Amino acid sequence: MLKNERLSIHKGSSLKSVLTELETAAMLSFEDSVPIPAAVNHSKEFFTHELKSIFLKEWICVGREDEISNEGDFLTHEVAGVSILIVRQTNGSISSFINACAHRFARLVQEKSGNTKRFICPYHAWTYNIGGELIRAPYMEMKNCFDKKTNGLHLVNTEIWEGFVYINLAKEKQKSVSSRLKFLKDEVVGRYDMASYKTVMRKTMTWDANWKNLIENFTESYHVPIAHKKTFALHKKPLEVYYCGEDNDHFCYHRAAQEADTGSGAAHPKNNRLKGEWRRMMVDCCVFPCQLITLMPDFLWYITVLPLDIGRFEATWGVAIPLEVLADIPSSEYENWLSELSDYMDTANDEDKILVQALNQGSASTILPKGTLHPIEKNLWQFTKYLHKMCRI
Ligand code: FES
Ligand SMILES: [Fe+2]
Repeated sequence: MLKNERLSIHKGSSLKSVLTELETAAMLSFEDSVPIPAAVNHSKEFFTHELKSIFLKEWICVGREDEISNEGDFLTHEVAGVSILIVRQTNGSISSFINACAHRFARLVQEKSGNTKRFICPYHAWTYNIGGELIRAPYMEMKNCFDKKTNGLHLVNTEIWEGFVYINLAKEKQKSVSSRLKFLKDEVVGRYDMASYKTVMRKTMTWDANWKNLIENFTESYHVPIAHKKTFALHKKPLEVYYCGEDNDHFCYHRAAQEADTGSGAAHPKNNRLKGEWRRMMVDCCVFPCQLITLMPDFLWYITVLPLDIGRFEATWGVAIPLEVLADIPSSEYENWLSELSDYMDTANDEDKILVQALNQGSASTILPKGTLHPIEKNLWQFTKYLHKMCRI
């Protein structure tokens, strides 16, 4: 047994039986809804199925556009075992490639981020420009008819939405991110102009739980007053004021306005984008399948959750801040401010980590009560319905 594998009889659950349980849960009305069936987070057959049905089909967020703002800046990200290389181009656009050499598929780039003029494969030194074209292939002139032009890197579909970069690994062309998220932008998040926020940190963490356990945790704020006493609970949003958003095939969200209309969590006086209660509104949303966003008038926290194995995931997260808020921080204090923000976020993540792992531990049991959802946990029911829609055969 691998270190991260948890003992659970659910592991052997067949895909058919898990899909039946998932369908039963997804068909319930919200009033009668139950938590995501435990086997969905523990069955090995289902895990392989969801990698193919979800991660190799859906748009996946790999970061923010301003994290690679200069020509040759790059990020790498692993999605369902496929390593992706995301690169800022000379003309300002962003292109993504499979991070495997076109010769015999050695991994081209090992770093998580960096800047370069060209990518040189460590194996036989095939060399690509930042546009993925093969520009040098030592001694390949010994092979008749070898054409560099047809041996470039494999291009991956890429789209930018609201400052985020998305890639898509599906063979068939998928509906664009912007059309999928039109309602979310027009009715909810567009007013914040989060693309204009500046990214100030990016970190990666690995937790021992199924990737969906973090989605479950993030999409409900029922736990916030209990679990986040040192961090988010300080914004004081009574549970009664939470509004859970409309059903949608591509996202779910909930929102709540905090009490204070000035200070942390509220719009800066120079922010004229937000009006009325939106000046102190927090929106938590999940862009299905695995992007989590907490958007506030003065703060943006985003996470991409990607499975490494059935009981282990990598969450890459970052924080972005509106320019008018950043302008108030004297440059001499910036490092201190950033380090305090980093500590605050680490504390909030630690508060969640123990719970997310506990969710995975508790649900490993095959003997469990029926379970239920609180009225402000509607996003969990919406996520269960999404899983069912994507995974049904
Ligand atoms: S595998 Fe990259 S040059 Fe041979
Ligand atoms: Fe939390």
